[in-house]
Amino acid sequence: NELGVVAVGFSGGQPKPGVDAAPMALIQAGLIQQLREDLEYNVSYDGEVHNFSEMLPEDDPDYRGMKRPKFCSAVTREVSEQVYKYSMQGKLVLTLGGDHSIAIGTISGSARAVRERLGRELAVIWVDAHADINTPESSESGNIHGMPVSFLTGLAKDEHEETFGWLKEHHLLSPKKLVYIGLRDIDKGEKKILRELGIKVFTMHDIDRHGIGKVMDMAVGWIGSDTPIHLSFDVDALDPLWAPSTGTPVRGGLTLREGDFICECLAETGSLVAVDLVEVNPSLEEHGASETVRTGVSLVRCALGDTLL
Ligand code: ARG
Ligand code: MN
Ligand code: MN
Ligand code: MN
Repeated sequence: NELGVVAVGFSGGQPKPGVDAAPMALIQAGLIQQLREDLEYNVSYDGEVHNFSEMLPEDDPDYRGMKRPKFCSAVTREVSEQVYKYSMQGKLVLTLGGDHSIAIGTISGSARAVRERLGRELAVIWVDAHADINTPESSESGNIHGMPVSFLTGLAKDEHEETFGWLKEHHLLSPKKLVYIGLRDIDKGEKKILRELGIKVFTMHDIDRHGIGKVMDMAVGWIGSDTPIHLSFDVDALDPLWAPSTGTPVRGGLTLREGDFICECLAETGSLVAVDLVEVNPSLEEHGASETVRTGVSLVRCALGDTLL
């Protein structure tokens, strides 16, 4: 089994430093070694955590309310290329973030590759406490990690190359092929967008009502078996009990088992083409950092088939 790993030490999509250190923390906890030795992946990894400091623009003023727009645009554009290349080689792509703005890169890269290589449309399962579908105009924070889905669906666009204008039709995701799981902190403007685009959402309320087993059946049923799936997993989907070290924790989240179960179900489909793990911030919550990293390792192992017999 071929796996390409992209390590993205990027924190520019939100204000708290430290999320850039997550890839190294996950790797030091043994993640890549375990994927090689326990899960027997043939891992392609260039051995570096990219921090993209060479891409830091001299001047990066707020634009349409977005903070660090040029830096985020340049980094996600580069990530998109890296994910695209691995994906075109038929490799499963694992991206270790970084804040969730990097999904602009990962998902655009796999959507393009799946179109070109398989002639198919990509489906995305977005596991998160948040919807991350603000447009620059609807965002109250200006943080781009709250906006990736609006750029990826074409809801938000910009004409300038250097502020996400590089995103073309072939990079985009159909709102019909997007499923959210775990939501519990959705901004007002986002609620309106989710309703208007008719996006499939399983909130924590739905998980309480039906149980995670039924929710996963419904989620996979919605996108259809035999559709290539990109899993974008924000660790803050888990309850802060299991993942305290993250920039925007929200109580009332998934248990560790529910998180692992989501990943296991997607591994079981055999349709995963890419996995992102984002928003682990080892510098927050001193005592919770190692627990959060452990949680991250567990989620990735499950998504990559650890618990399949
Ligand atoms: N909705 C808020 C915002 O737009 C929070 C987003 C949190 N996103 C995340 N990837 N943790 O700023
Ligand atoms: Mn490299
Ligand atoms: Mn989140
Ligand atoms: Mn997120």
